[in-house]
Amino acid sequence: MKILITGSSGFIGFHLTKLLLEKGYKVHGYDSMNNYYDAKLKKARLNILKKFKNFTFTKSKLENKKKLDETFYIFKPNVVIHLAAQAGVRYSVNKPRVYLDSNIIGSFNIIEISHKLKVKHLIMASSSSVYGANKKFPFKEIDKTETQLSIYASTKKSNESIAHSYSNIWKIPITMLRFFTVYGPWGRPDMALFKFTKGILKNKKIDIYNYGKMYRDFTYIDDIVKGVELLINKIPNIKQKGKYINDSLSSVAPFRILNIGNTKKVHLLNFIKQIELELGKKAIKNYMPLQKGDVKQTLSNTKLLKDLTGYTPKVNYKEGIKKFLDWYKKYYKN
Ligand SMILES: NC(=O)c1ccc[n+]([C@@H]2O[C@H](COP(=O)([O-])OP(=O)(O)OC[C@H]3O[C@@H](n4cnc5c(N)ncnc54)[C@H](O)[C@@H]3O)[C@@H](O)[C@H]2O)c1
Repeated sequence: MKILITGSSGFIGFHLTKLLLEKGYKVHGYDSMNNYYDAKLKKARLNILKKFKNFTFTKSKLENKKKLDETFYIFKPNVVIHLAAQAGVRYSVNKPRVYLDSNIIGSFNIIEISHKLKVKHLIMASSSSVYGANKKFPFKEIDKTETQLSIYASTKKSNESIAHSYSNIWKIPITMLRFFTVYGPWGRPDMALFKFTKGILKNKKIDIYNYGKMYRDFTYIDDIVKGVELLINKIPNIKQKGKYINDSLSSVAPFRILNIGNTKKVHLLNFIKQIELELGKKAIKNYMPLQKGDVKQTLSNTKLLKDLTGYTPKVNYKEGIKKFLDWYKKYYKN
């Protein structure tokens, strides 16, 4: 089985690629290694992956269609897991065009070439942010998703829509995964856990949005990659029509959307308290209003994924924070 993973030097991509390499899959990584955040971290992740004999890699942008197509034609993947994207809700407020290029044009290129090469299963990253201003918790895949609050979320919603129509016309089996706030070792420096840890250790103020009145369904990275692995051979087919997508009971596409989260909500201030406890140090808190584009609460219902694969998230936020801090202290020699 040959799997092509885009965004393989990214946080989730790195962990997933490593897990699949350890399981003996042949994996080709594709990543631009851009410097949205510290590219050294991406290089360090890539260096670990390069130690595996069953790993090959192409450094290029998704928008470079020639290079992308060439990579696909040479590697001939059976399965594609598309994780590369311009991530981050806050950055999308001032840099919307990057999101259109990477997430819409880039993902379109992936869908097209996956169709041309008759890939058996295309798994793509969506996001809990597509639920936007929804007020009914927990979020279910069947809920309407009409109120995205950021351009980042809009590009993910567009991906779902374009993927569905392609799947409908060409019968490409596609699974879209709505990830809920993923965290853990080798995590993203632009995300809360990383920023809070860095701030607390350096005695710097940490910005706390919406005055701390936020809830997140924090999902530990090992649970996420295990869930994705379980899905590889669960190829959607048209007999499942309507079961896994919202509003599309008449759809005949081999397509589904699945939440992947921890199914528990954590108050942001409790999350910070736990970091303080583990570090044995108090944070200097800078309370701020809600950031443009941000949602106040996320919470997943993952019954569909569980029914399909047996997915059961195992790591609670206290354990997860400890595992992250152990990695952080070792990696940054704190
Ligand atoms: N981490 C989360 O909490 C979370 C939540 C919801 C959705 N997601 C989605 O999961 C996926 C992976 O997220 P992550 O947290 O690992 O992010 P990440 O930024 O760590 O990884 C993304 C990788 O894609 C690469 N990349 C970005 N744009 C590219 C382009 N145009 N061409 C080629 N490579 C490009 C980057 O260099 C990076 O290595 C993304 O699609 C993201 O939107 C993540």
